[in-house]
Amino acid sequence: MSRQASDGGALPTLEDLEQQLGGLDRRRILVRCDFNVPLREGPDGRCEIADDLRIRAALPTLSWLAERGAAVTACSHLGRPAGTPDERFSLAPVAERLAASAPGVALVENLRFHAGETANDAVFADALVAGEIVVRFGNGSQRAPFDGYVNDAFGASHRAHASIVGPPRRLPSAAGRLLAREVDVLGGLRTDARRPFVAVLGGAKISDKLGVVEALTGVVDTLVIGGGMCFTFLAAKGHQVGDSLCEPDFIETCERLLEGGTRIVLPSDITALDAGGTVRQMGRSIPDGCRGLDIGPGSAAEFDDVIADARTVFWNGPMGLFEDERFAAGTRAVAQSMADSRAFAVVGGGDSAAAVAQFGLAPYMDHISTGGGAGLELIEHGDLPGLAALRDSPQR
Ligand code: 3PG
Repeated sequence: MSRQASDGGALPTLEDLEQQLGGLDRRRILVRCDFNVPLREGPDGRCEIADDLRIRAALPTLSWLAERGAAVTACSHLGRPAGTPDERFSLAPVAERLAASAPGVALVENLRFHAGETANDAVFADALVAGEIVVRFGNGSQRAPFDGYVNDAFGASHRAHASIVGPPRRLPSAAGRLLAREVDVLGGLRTDARRPFVAVLGGAKISDKLGVVEALTGVVDTLVIGGGMCFTFLAAKGHQVGDSLCEPDFIETCERLLEGGTRIVLPSDITALDAGGTVRQMGRSIPDGCRGLDIGPGSAAEFDDVIADARTVFWNGPMGLFEDERFAAGTRAVAQSMADSRAFAVVGGGDSAAAVAQFGLAPYMDHISTGGGAGLELIEHGDLPGLAALRDSPQR
């Protein structure tokens, strides 16, 4: 049994791997996870995990393998160290959490402590599958080759890095549960979404999201635009945007998108900060000296109507500067509309996932992606390097 890998074809499953290895008992399995979790300083001054979604989401795969007697070693990157050991990016806090939730799973220290990881170096990939990269946490000191590989790092599968694309060329390989679910849900949006299908996009810049906006305009019924990127669209419609974030080089692109066949809904009012530091509500035109930092209450109500009528909603990107309570109302309102809606509600990772968690609304969503960039790239291109590597694994 194999799963669809979005546009690219079937991915090998954990069951395929079990069958291929003639059982998993005492088999040494390397699992690539995405434990790139946000960290913060705890009350005791120690580094702690701010959001453990990515760790919790990997547990079904780790437990499934462990229950079948496999000797599981997990590996991941964390942050962007410069290819050498750097304690600020140690996976120690992750190891502590993992020891509590998946005891017995060993963990390799941050893969990006090796320059060969991001360089997709073949020698590094050889060493990784040969078990020569030191396991720093848990009971995994044995340096022996792995028998199989599982990719459960959806959030990193858009990177053609050694630990993502190397092992499938060398070992029997499979997609983990998390990866398979992400591909089913996010990949399925392009082809199988129930209609009306609404995408709500926010975040700072249109330039960062242009690819996904273009891809979605061909697929969704309605595109709702908020966040910093709405100001380039508003400028394209001839509105004044004051000191708000606007990308003049993309105004023409926004004009073209607005003239295309897809319905695009823009905010009708804005919450802004004026030059004196006062928060003000205004319409679509923002005077000089004022900076739009959130959608206004009228827009939130209009967006709610669109979301309430949808059967599928995909949301990526906050509606405003939600870390600042004065500009959190728009993002909170969209999260609440998603939670209240009877649509299949998909939150596209990154800041929107953090916002949903912050507002306590995560339990009301149908799917919260663990991938930020990976999810957007999957929607845009229909495939990712990590998925292609699994599909092309000669060991299948
Ligand atoms: C993410 O957080 O999006 C993934 O872990 C990928 O991290 P990267 O952008 O540093 O490759």
